[in-house]
Amino acid sequence: MATNASRAIGVDIGGTGIKAGIVDLEAGELVSDRIKVATPAGAEPADVLTAVHQVIERLEAPADMPLGVAFPAIVKGGRTLSAANVSATWVGFEAEKFFEDGLSRGIHFANDADVAGIAEVRYGAAKDVEGLVILTTLGTGIGSAMIYDGVLVPNSELGHLQRAGHKKDAEHFAAYSAMEREELSWEKWAKRLQWYYDYVEFLFSPDLIVVGGGVSKHSENFLPLLKLRAPIVPAKHRNNAGIIGSASLAVPVPEALPAVK
Ligand code: BGC
Repeated sequence: MATNASRAIGVDIGGTGIKAGIVDLEAGELVSDRIKVATPAGAEPADVLTAVHQVIERLEAPADMPLGVAFPAIVKGGRTLSAANVSATWVGFEAEKFFEDGLSRGIHFANDADVAGIAEVRYGAAKDVEGLVILTTLGTGIGSAMIYDGVLVPNSELGHLQRAGHKKDAEHFAAYSAMEREELSWEKWAKRLQWYYDYVEFLFSPDLIVVGGGVSKHSENFLPLLKLRAPIVPAKHRNNAGIIGSASLAVPVPEALPAVK
């Protein structure tokens, strides 16, 4: 039976929802309910902190359980350096320290798509895959994780590839939020995804593409419509990959798991 020592909390802050769960780090699976609250309008730091407090309290986990927090922005040296779908206050903000002070505990803090990539490498669709895996999350934005032979190259931000002749970027055109906003059919959305993944494939020639985000649970509606050189598969942990990955980064890497440098 898993003990508390092999468990951690993962909190996945997104542009639309904040999700949390307790993760068994040996199995790479949620062992609690998945708690979700809406991301507060405007996503200002103080409001996001309050929401993170709420989801953690609802988990009723021991206070010393390791905690990983994932955020939808570039994260470097504990600072958030971009803000595509959250308040501009986060740009250059000492976010890791802010959460640690506000929650009165240490955290591991990283980009949301990067941690989803880690979850899929350690426990999912990208496990033991050699070469380059690109995981993309299709949600409010498009997040990306680039992993080469099990090692993450952090903060790749492939959602912000530009479209020639257009002011707005790839995520505005092809994220799941674009499908919802414009009420696109699966077929119409898949045409946009085809453009997007063609571009990613041309630039990086990945060996595997993994698709995460909430819509990955409906992958049968759009992945079969895409024609790419590389296999393209749904994330095994679907929209829980962010929770699982952030939790798994909150504790030192056991021998059995691929290193994350
Ligand atoms: C952000 C990324 C994030 C992605 C998914 C993008 O707008 O720039 O950092 O990973 O959304 O949340």
